[in-house]
Amino acid sequence: MELRESIIKRRTTNKAFKTDPLKEEHIREIIFAANRAPSHFNSQPWDFILVTDEGIRKEIGVIAGDSMQELMAKGEFFKRYLKYFRFSKDEIEKNKSGIFIDKIPTILRPFISKIFGDDGLKFLNFLRVPKILGKDARKIVSDSPLLLGFMLRKEEYRPGEKSGIYSLISMGAALQNIWLTATSLGIGLQFVSTPMEIPENWDKILKILKVPDTHELMAVYRLGYIHTEGKRNTIDWVSDERRSFEELVSWNYYGGAKK
Ligand SMILES: Cc1cc2nc3c(=O)[nH]c(=O)nc-3n(C[C@H](O)[C@H](O)[C@H](O)COP(=O)(O)O)c2cc1C
Repeated sequence: MELRESIIKRRTTNKAFKTDPLKEEHIREIIFAANRAPSHFNSQPWDFILVTDEGIRKEIGVIAGDSMQELMAKGEFFKRYLKYFRFSKDEIEKNKSGIFIDKIPTILRPFISKIFGDDGLKFLNFLRVPKILGKDARKIVSDSPLLLGFMLRKEEYRPGEKSGIYSLISMGAALQNIWLTATSLGIGLQFVSTPMEIPENWDKILKILKVPDTHELMAVYRLGYIHTEGKRNTIDWVSDERRSFEELVSWNYYGGAKK
């Protein structure tokens, strides 16, 4: 696959993957690509945990699902990130950013406007939205053939110092190499971020993965071969919109127009 094609095709995969294990040569190719990323002074500040064990994947899947359910039921998560949620095509086309919740069971549709009111949280719970999301998350994470723990060595992670920023830029470059390579191999990827939002749950994951004190677990991703025919989650989103060249750039100085 050409690079541009991978860039265009790369997407967050929300739905379940095929359950086939990833071929080891593909896993090696992905980690190879990660490690070819640029890093400050070629420090390669990353290390990886490859979780293929079914029992461990299930344990993490349960934590991910429980975290999703708890975050949605308490409403903080929804409130914290509400500014990124779009509920109509018009809204996403106008904003050109955020995620468009394009799949909602028909029965819930008439209540969307209520979500923004003071009783929004009550409605979400009444309609069992947190349970639905939790159940889907539990399943798709547990059933992913590979969970990838992406760690940053703490000696390179010095918040407040330039090298702290350099190491984060390096991690972003490594992630993108992982994601584009995965795409070129027909492998999808999704962040499993909900447990990060609940410190006790993240601690549980650190324990399960035996992450040493020398390392910061920056993220957990789920990966697997993409199921082109696969069913979407009960509630689902897309985020294809992007801002245009003209909206993104200034010429010569911030706010400057092209001469
Ligand atoms: C730091 C970071 C955290 C993210 N966390 C999640 C997550 O928890 N769940 C998820 O489905 N996507 C997550 N995403 C993916 C973004 O939502 C996604 O990249 C964005 O909406 C654009 O969609 P695309 O990846 O399909 O192009 C995360 C992305 C980044 C960079």
